[in-house]
Amino acid sequence: MAQSQEEEVILKVKRFNPERGFWWAEYKLKVDKFTQFTEALRRIKSEQDPTLSYRASCHMAVCGSCGMKINGEPRLACKTLVLDVAKKYNNNVIIIEPMDYFKPIKDLIVDWDEFYERMFKVKPRLYQAKEVLEGKAEHRLKPEDQRELWKFAQCIWCGLCVSACPAVVIDQQFLGPAAHAKGYRFLADPRDTITEERMKILIDSSWRCTYCYQCFNVCPRDIEPVTAIKKTRSFTKLYKDKSEVAEIGERHIEAIHESISKTGKLQEAEVYVKAYGVLQSLIDLVYMSGAGKLKYMLVQSKPVQNIKEIKKILGGE
Ligand code: SF4
Ligand code: SF4
Ligand code: FES
Repeated sequence: MAQSQEEEVILKVKRFNPERGFWWAEYKLKVDKFTQFTEALRRIKSEQDPTLSYRASCHMAVCGSCGMKINGEPRLACKTLVLDVAKKYNNNVIIIEPMDYFKPIKDLIVDWDEFYERMFKVKPRLYQAKEVLEGKAEHRLKPEDQRELWKFAQCIWCGLCVSACPAVVIDQQFLGPAAHAKGYRFLADPRDTITEERMKILIDSSWRCTYCYQCFNVCPRDIEPVTAIKKTRSFTKLYKDKSEVAEIGERHIEAIHESISKTGKLQEAEVYVKAYGVLQSLIDLVYMSGAGKLKYMLVQSKPVQNIKEIKKILGGE
């Protein structure tokens, strides 16, 4: 059988240790179309530089330990082929960095403590009824409930979504995409007994997501953490003790729906006032005026002519 053709690539690795800080190292090696980044790094470590550090265990996208940034994209190194990346960027020089957001420990190895803290905040296990635990009753999961939970149960705790999320960086009260995917998996499980407590943990945080969809794009298991967040928001109407953030969020959604069903357009100023109230809107008006953004807020879009079609799409008629 003919051998797979090899190509030379240069991996530029952003290295780190606490004494020296960050620096770049370059490694040249030949790879074929089957070589994943974990294999390339293993060869560099054993053949060129034993001091290079990275994490990997399963080499089959299951353990979640090999996350890193490859040409700027958060990826699992074991699920990414070197020559695929070279081809995508039309360049055999490839940049490898530790994941964003996580504190580096050594080279590509990062500190997971904060990630795990967020994950454990959502109580990531099933709290079953006493009778079930005592073996006196059985609580079966219906196939339709199983289908709802299945996707969100596939998370491998790799952290790629968190490293790509802009909201976790700026908002300490936001639990982050992975924790929300895990939290929703139990919130929606009919066998679970702590729904009220889960709503308390998850609902305020769910309104802190910016819906940028970065977590959706990078997840190697197609889990769609942003979908879990949307579904969690839908529990807000069932929850009485809402935070201000959740109340503003709900008003915002209602105002958007009202604006679109009335005019077919998003009337930004009206939506803003309905969501934040008159007083806060006046305060923000001063800020926006200073930042030269007032003109955008005051744009009044003309209503669309065939509003009936819009209402049909919204399901109103
Ligand atoms: S959609 Fe939300 S959770 Fe996902 S990356 Fe953006 S801000 Fe983060
Ligand atoms: S949701 Fe996806 S990207 Fe995020 S930790 Fe789980 S598997 Fe990784
Ligand atoms: S080594 Fe386990 S997910 Fe990559």
